[in-house]
Amino acid sequence: MNVLVIGGGGREHAMAWKLAESDKVQMVYVAPGNGGTALDSRLKNVPITDVVALREWAQENKIGLTVVGPEGPLAAGVVDEFRAHGLRIFGPTKAAAQLESSKAFSKAFMQRHNIPTAAYEAFTDPKAAHAYVDRMGAPIVVKADGLAAGKGVVVALTLDEAHAAIDFMLLDNKLGVVHNAGEGGQAVPRVVIEEFLEGEEASFMVLCDGKDVVALATSQDHKRLLDDDQGPNTGGMGAYSPAPVVTPQVHARAMREIILPTLKGMEQDGIPYTGFLYAGLMIDPQGQVKTLEFNCRMGDPETQPILMRLKTDFVDVLLAATEHGGLANMELDWDRRTALGVVLAAFGYPSTPRKGDVIHGLPAPQETCMVFHAGTEACDGATVTSGGRVLCVTALAENAKAARQVAYDAIPGIRFDGMQYRQDIGHRAIKPGADGKAGR
Ligand code: AMP
Ligand code: GLY
Repeated sequence: MNVLVIGGGGREHAMAWKLAESDKVQMVYVAPGNGGTALDSRLKNVPITDVVALREWAQENKIGLTVVGPEGPLAAGVVDEFRAHGLRIFGPTKAAAQLESSKAFSKAFMQRHNIPTAAYEAFTDPKAAHAYVDRMGAPIVVKADGLAAGKGVVVALTLDEAHAAIDFMLLDNKLGVVHNAGEGGQAVPRVVIEEFLEGEEASFMVLCDGKDVVALATSQDHKRLLDDDQGPNTGGMGAYSPAPVVTPQVHARAMREIILPTLKGMEQDGIPYTGFLYAGLMIDPQGQVKTLEFNCRMGDPETQPILMRLKTDFVDVLLAATEHGGLANMELDWDRRTALGVVLAAFGYPSTPRKGDVIHGLPAPQETCMVFHAGTEACDGATVTSGGRVLCVTALAENAKAARQVAYDAIPGIRFDGMQYRQDIGHRAIKPGADGKAGR
């Protein structure tokens, strides 16, 4: 079978690499792919991103299965387009992808279906938003309502920061994110302002076939740019699986209180959910779980360590997941070891990443250490940087501490100008005295 992966980041490189391991696969195409997928002879890049052009290409090339990595094509309706032409594709429809693409949609949805999340209000009028934060006080969280590539959330520790975030997002619309929320459906910026939650975050991902659901292995990422969770928010600077914070009790609660009611709620609302569903969890010290956000895709970089641990044939998993009720008897087999990935980012990331730096010293793939590419491209026989997050060095070892060692040992051999990375990936899983082993 020919398989297509839509996207060009580290998550998509990991998906394509895992799919290529299956003996059911003839060729894995990646659209548009990156410099890493270009290097693997089992994978082929396809330079198409337009949704209709992709569908036409998939028909011409007899693609038997398509899986979508990022939220952009999902929000643009790629699943609707493929399905309308009888193509098998795994992902949510455009309507279902609103769980991620619109904060106001997902917050209203959670409130309507009693899914635990932070208290909130949505605003299009800056004056009303300013008055609301004055009334609520700081810390408080201001979120742009729309896809903003991880830049649309300000956790304001002071009222001044909250007011500045409102002006930035609403008054000046600096993110350029708009919504059809104005009079007569006119496009205007909108923000969601919500209660600040304390606790530890985890990434909880499942596969849904529209009826049944299967959880992926647990994981945790590191959103801030700098060590000790300092500096600006990013798409994620590193991740590992399993995440010890997701104890069996937390896992059961997340399924019972968040995932299952969400799928049932979507069904009730007439928008049945298919695809990966990612709930960003905030877990408080008592083990109560709240939803920070939904993503309608797998996480990046969480996918890289998660798929490194997947032992079940990924093609079988996705074929089952694209049948209504196909996941009913699916059990996923995970490597007991821990996988941990460290992101190597470009100079200037996250605000203004520099492109075009030549990457040296990329190691050959190994069973216990894979370098997944994200913002890279092939250029005159070299691999150069082409985006913010460049590589994710992902290692598999007995426990979190050992996996961290293997990943960090591989990094000094890799060089590009301006390379930046965190030194402390996995610190929450490697508490003093712990061996970093736990969970599923
Ligand atoms: P989001 O894109 O909504 O997940 O937000 C990005 C990051 O902002 C999250 O990973 C959290 O670290 C932080 N954040 C978002 N919402 C809240 C909240 N209500 N309370 C505390 N931190 C939050
Ligand atoms: N790493 C967080 C995300 O993919 O949204």
